[in-house]
Amino acid sequence: MTGRRALIVGASSGIGAAVTEVFAGAGADVVAAGRRIHRLEGVAAGAAGLPGNVTPMELDVADEASARVGVAAAAEILGGLDVVVNNAGVMLSATVQTSDPAEWERMVRTNLLGTLHVSHAALPHLVASKGTLVQTSSTSGRTASAGSGVYAATKHGVNAFSEALRQEVAAQGVRVVVVEPGMVDTELADHLSDPTMRTLAAQMAGEIRVLDPKDVAETVLFAVTRPPHVSLNEILLRPTEQVR
Ligand SMILES: NC(=O)c1ccc[n+]([C@@H]2O[C@H](COP(=O)([O-])OP(=O)(O)OC[C@H]3O[C@@H](n4cnc5c(N)ncnc54)[C@H](OP(=O)(O)O)[C@@H]3O)[C@@H](O)[C@H]2O)c1
Repeated sequence: MTGRRALIVGASSGIGAAVTEVFAGAGADVVAAGRRIHRLEGVAAGAAGLPGNVTPMELDVADEASARVGVAAAAEILGGLDVVVNNAGVMLSATVQTSDPAEWERMVRTNLLGTLHVSHAALPHLVASKGTLVQTSSTSGRTASAGSGVYAATKHGVNAFSEALRQEVAAQGVRVVVVEPGMVDTELADHLSDPTMRTLAAQMAGEIRVLDPKDVAETVLFAVTRPPHVSLNEILLRPTEQVR
């Protein structure tokens, strides 16, 4: 990864913070983006001794202008983009009957539209470098289940968009990689407003050995370090004990 230039969006905690650390550890220069700048500064400070540089950047994927300007600024700082990781996401699960449509809108704006905005802004840079676009989807991008209808809809959307994009840019040497983790130990479930879903998430996390963010980060590193003619299009990884 030495000399490679990476933008990680949704890098302030969990999987994105781990990807930032693993990439910088492997020598890549990284712009770590998200809304919570103090957390991003902490991620950058934690990476201080690593071979690659980490630059924190404030960026809100739910705001098209912020995504566009942020991607351009990251390309400017790094002198181009070889890897972009679209990792920003929120999971506000609840049943359709009990959920708040304002939360549906937040998930669609962040998980789906946010991924679209960042991908669109990043494409000219990735075409120029024959780079790699990594999309953090989920097992919910493959299988929907009760209580996660809208979250699953956003992740199915990410998968569909990414497959179409892959076909569009394959001949230009750009790789599109969809990563679909099962349960990972992060802050994702902390934002659940539905008490039943909070209990359920805590219960599930307590019953099995879930993935560490680093498990996912190392998988992403593996995918982006394959030779240029090898494209891992879709990677599903679950905790071993996770059944669905
Ligand atoms: N944890 C799991 O079990 C799991 C499983 C499958 C897939 N995933 C996916 O993995 C990704 C990362 O989640 P995580 O589990 O690592 O949870 P997390 O610790 O809550 O991280 C979510 C990241 O997304 C960023 N984000 C949220 N809204 C944003 C916005 N509007 N603009 C920019 N950044 C935004 C957050 O940064 P700020 O708040 O600073 O903006 C944070 O860095 C998500 O796409 C999630 O759906 C997680």
